[in-house]
Amino acid sequence: MKNKTIGYAVLGLGIGMAHADAAHESPNAELVAVCDVDAIRLEKAKERYPEATAYLDFDELIRDPRVDIISICLPSAMHADFAVRAMEAGKHVLVEKPVDITPERAALIEDARVRTGMTCGVVHQNRFNADMYPIREAVDSGRLGNIFLGTFGVKWYREQSYYDNGGWRGTWEMDGGGSLMNQAVHTVDLMLWLMGDVASVTSTAGIYNHNIKTEDMTASLIRFKNGAAATFVSTTCAYPGISTEIMLYGTGGSVEADADVLRAWKMKDAPDPEAEEERMLALYGEGNLGVSLREPERLFGHAHVVEDMILAVRDGRNPEVMPEDAIKAVRLVSAVYESARTGKTVYFS
Ligand SMILES: NC(=O)c1ccc[n+]([C@@H]2O[C@H](COP(=O)([O-])OP(=O)(O)OC[C@H]3O[C@@H](n4cnc5c(N)ncnc54)[C@H](O)[C@@H]3O)[C@@H](O)[C@H]2O)c1
Repeated sequence: MKNKTIGYAVLGLGIGMAHADAAHESPNAELVAVCDVDAIRLEKAKERYPEATAYLDFDELIRDPRVDIISICLPSAMHADFAVRAMEAGKHVLVEKPVDITPERAALIEDARVRTGMTCGVVHQNRFNADMYPIREAVDSGRLGNIFLGTFGVKWYREQSYYDNGGWRGTWEMDGGGSLMNQAVHTVDLMLWLMGDVASVTSTAGIYNHNIKTEDMTASLIRFKNGAAATFVSTTCAYPGISTEIMLYGTGGSVEADADVLRAWKMKDAPDPEAEEERMLALYGEGNLGVSLREPERLFGHAHVVEDMILAVRDGRNPEVMPEDAIKAVRLVSAVYESARTGKTVYFS
C-alpha cells in the first residue's frame, strides 16, 4: 500500500534497473517513467514495469509533470550535463557514482543544486553497509583513539569482455579512469568519510591485464591533514576478485572489514576485548545478508539510497550523501592520476 506518490523516473537502464526496482518497491513513491536510448533495454524495462512510461528521449522525460525525481544512471562523464538539465527543468536528482569524472564537472552539479534549490543526492551506498555503522561510531566516539593508519585495498577482477561490452568503460573520456575511478571510488569515499581531509598523495598506476587506455592498477600513499597516513590500492586484475579491505588502526584499537563483513574488532578500552569482538562478529561478521535475516525490513545497497532520496524529497531534507561529499572522492582520484602521470606528490590546499 503506497502512502504518498512521489513520481520516480530512471535515466539509463544498466545499474538503473536497481534504482527502478527500489522505486517500484518503495511504499512512498511510484515508478512513473524509465528512459534509455537503447530500445532493447527500454523494452525489457517496460515488460518489468508496465506501469511506467518508457521514453527514448530525455527531453520528453523532463517534460513529464508526474516526474519528481530522476535517477541519473548514465556513463559517468554524462552525469553533470543531464543532472544539471534535470534540475533546471524542476526535477530532483539522484546521481550515480562517481558524481562526474572531474572535480570541475562535478562542481557544475553542486552549482545547479544551489541555483535551482532542487534536492540532489549521490549514490555511495557502501556508507550504509551494516558494518559501517559501528565502525563510524568507533571513530566518532573516540574509541579508536587517534587514528594513525588506514589500509584500503579494492582487489577486484574484471574480464576483458567487461570493458569490450560497455564501450565507455576504461576510457578517459567517459569513465574518467579505470579501477580507481570506477570500481574503487566507493572505497575512496569511505576512506575520506572515516579519515578526514587529505593533505597529499603519491601514486603509481598502470595497465597490467586489459586492453584499455586508463589503468587497471593504482597504488597510493596518502597523508591526511590530521597527520594520519593511508595506503590505497585498486585493481581489476586480482583473480578472481579477492577483497575490499577497509582497515583502521588507532591508538585505542583496530578494526578490519572486507566490504560489508566485519573481520576484526579490537578495542583496548573494552572490559573484555575478546568477548566484545566475539559479540561484534556475531552481529556483523555475516555482512548485510546476516543483518537482513535478523531485520528483514532494513534496506541496503540501492534500495537504501533510493528510499533515502524519496524521503528527503518528501520531508524537505537533504539526502544522506550530497554532491559536495562526493566531489571529494573525485578530487582525490584525479590527484592520484596526476601523481601517477607526473611522478610527483600532489598537495591539497
Ligand atoms: N553504485 C554502484 O554500485 C554502481 C554500479 C554500477 C554502475 N554504477 C555507475 O552507474 C553509471 C552507469 O553504469 P552502468 O554500468 O549502468 O552503465 P551501462 O552502460 O550498462 O548503462 C548506461 C545506460 O545509459 C544509456 N544511455 C546513454 N546515453 C543516454 C541518453 N542520452 N539518454 C538515455 N539513456 C542513455 C545507455 O543506453 C545504457 O543503457 C556509471 O556512472 C557507473 O559508474 C554504479
